[in-house]
Amino acid sequence: MKKQVLLWLLSGVLFLNACQNNTIHNETASMTFTISEKPFGQINGDTITQYTITNPQGMQVSIINYGGTVTNLLVPGRDHELGDVVLGFDSLSGYLQKANPYFGCLVGRYGNRIAKGKFILDGQAYQLTLNDHGNTLHGGVQGLDKVIWQASKPAGDSSLKLTYTSKDGDQGFPGNLVIEVVYTLSSDNALQIAYSATTDKATPVNLTNHCYFNLSAGKQNTILDHEVMLQAEKFTAVDSLLIPTGQLPDVKGTPMDFTTPKKIGAELAAVKGGYDHNWVLKRKGKDLEKIATAYDASSGRFMEVFTTEPGLQFYTGNFLDGTLKGKQQQKYQQHAGFCMETQHFPDAPNQPSFPNTIVKPGESYRSLTYYRFSVK
Ligand code: BGC
Repeated sequence: MKKQVLLWLLSGVLFLNACQNNTIHNETASMTFTISEKPFGQINGDTITQYTITNPQGMQVSIINYGGTVTNLLVPGRDHELGDVVLGFDSLSGYLQKANPYFGCLVGRYGNRIAKGKFILDGQAYQLTLNDHGNTLHGGVQGLDKVIWQASKPAGDSSLKLTYTSKDGDQGFPGNLVIEVVYTLSSDNALQIAYSATTDKATPVNLTNHCYFNLSAGKQNTILDHEVMLQAEKFTAVDSLLIPTGQLPDVKGTPMDFTTPKKIGAELAAVKGGYDHNWVLKRKGKDLEKIATAYDASSGRFMEVFTTEPGLQFYTGNFLDGTLKGKQQQKYQQHAGFCMETQHFPDAPNQPSFPNTIVKPGESYRSLTYYRFSVK
């Protein structure tokens, strides 16, 4: 009995201590989930709204309905202090600038590259808009990252549902594609992203999210000291424009080997341009599985990635160059953040041996990814 009282007192002291150490935590700590909203600027007379979900632990995610973009993700570190672990901007104008490198947004209709923006489906040739050295990247010139999504709040205050209908012919893709993305915070500090879509004509679909993580929450200028594990023994080899050659080389004995945790910077210099590749995930089946982790020893933050997808684009912010002014005037230098984009493989519509990305009428595209945070 005495022991129980002591434990109870101790947990109270720890809780109070955690609250004192952290003003944000103090303001938001509640025993339930909450969701709030506030205006985040305007696009041609349409108000963009920022929604903030808070879980009972105080973890918070903020999402705007422009691009379905995660603008902030506040996660506790070892010292219980909440830190924002994603790169981004303080205002809508930041996200609207041409140089925005897909910070935090939803990506589609086809995440990653399609060679020359061409594919043939059911005997018909399609040409997509080109936006990356003669290829199509992340769905084309105006992908799902650059549209206004319809937001609604399902019951429970832990989720935000975003819907968008991409019309037949949008960016050159066939079919009216009705897309739904549900962002949910769980009580065990995971951000869950559930994607679904239906179409009225066969069409390639590959949806993902493009958060740039820095688990130190800005305390480290780069992510080179983060330790990463990728559950993958192969990757999709690419040419100089990052288009798959069709080969799936083994990672063993190469800088691409992250089968056991390794600092991102350990062998990055040996990879021309830095890491920007799709790893072929080693999976047991098609269900949700843990396939990657990242750890920042300085803050203690540990991220685990779970997905139903067969691939993961691990991108180390190679094209960041210090010219973008991010949140609180931070200058995001090269490797300031990394992305773990769960996905099907790049250019699958032109690579018959890659897992299928074609969704047909009557079928339902479904994909689920969790980013779960804890401390070590
Ligand atoms: C791609 C990079 C690209 C970046 C855009 C990543 O998903 O793999 O090549 O530069 O997105 O910021």
